[in-house]
Amino acid sequence: MYSTPWMSDIVVGTMRWGIWDAGFTTSQYEAMIQKALSLGMTTFDHADIYGNHTTEAEFGAALKLHPEWRSQIELVTKCGIIHVCDQKPEHYVKAYDFTKAHILQSAEDSLRNLQTDYLDVMLLHRPDLLMDPDEVAEAFDLLYTSGKVRSFGVSNFTPSQVKLLQSTVPVGVHQLEISVKDVSAFDDGRLDQCAIDGIVPMAWSPLGGGNLPEGAVAALEVLADEFSVTSQAIALAWLLQHPAGILPVVGTTKAENLEAAHAALNIKLDRQQWYTIYQAATGTRLP
Ligand SMILES: NC(=O)c1ccc[n+]([C@@H]2O[C@H](COP(=O)([O-])OP(=O)(O)OC[C@H]3O[C@@H](n4cnc5c(N)ncnc54)[C@H](OP(=O)(O)O)[C@@H]3O)[C@@H](O)[C@H]2O)c1
Repeated sequence: MYSTPWMSDIVVGTMRWGIWDAGFTTSQYEAMIQKALSLGMTTFDHADIYGNHTTEAEFGAALKLHPEWRSQIELVTKCGIIHVCDQKPEHYVKAYDFTKAHILQSAEDSLRNLQTDYLDVMLLHRPDLLMDPDEVAEAFDLLYTSGKVRSFGVSNFTPSQVKLLQSTVPVGVHQLEISVKDVSAFDDGRLDQCAIDGIVPMAWSPLGGGNLPEGAVAALEVLADEFSVTSQAIALAWLLQHPAGILPVVGTTKAENLEAAHAALNIKLDRQQWYTIYQAATGTRLP
């Protein structure tokens, strides 16, 4: 049924491009998209809430200026968070909402804002404890059969929450936090589940949001010297090495840092190098 689309090995995150951080103009959006495409980074990660529900529309304005881009890129977006902000005065408390009505409305809003007639991937952003898998399946089926969304996934779910949803729909993608700052996915069952079920794992904040622990940075820098790349490239290569096929979602707002990230694709760490970083990340020694 829903087949997971091809996505680029490094995914480009847009969370910091709008008013939450860099405040890009339309021409800055165009320049970053162009740079990413020139590096083969064709998948862009969004969420309805980024920039308090403004970033998708800003990106969409740039996309509109280059109609040829749509067929060259994959658009991932997320829904399900009731985010309190000035742009949504009806939201008075943080909540999660996977009702059919909310999912359908969110898809329509994202399509309109991104100025596209289909989304490649739609993710449920954070687990709704009141999730009814049958209701989610109804929403996904309607979006899929109408051609509005090509595949679906989740983000920040536990393995059992993924299983619960899999009882009614195929889950193609799981976006979770993985970096030297947060290594829990390696041994808490989430990456194992991705490998077993053929779910594509995407790593959000793969550089710890730009703030990696000191011990890990020291270990990354040693290898960065060895490979003549940046420590960020080593941190990404460390994720890319995992056999589950992790796709790092980089959050940079700078073209030169996209290039630094791209360098990760040519690095192969051996077991001892990989575990040096792992031990520096956990601050413990392997038994
Ligand atoms: N599913 C979820 O719940 C969830 C949660 C958070 C984020 N996300 C997604 O994940 C994406 C990435 O998150 P993030 O922004 O926290 O990721 P990140 O890549 O870990 O952190 C980005 C930060 O690192 C800095 N940085 C420094 N050197 C860099 C380099 N060589 N390459 C890349 N960045 C460098 C960036 O600064 P400069 O801008 O100066 O380069 C930026 O401030 C978001 O855009 C969003 O799409 C998803």
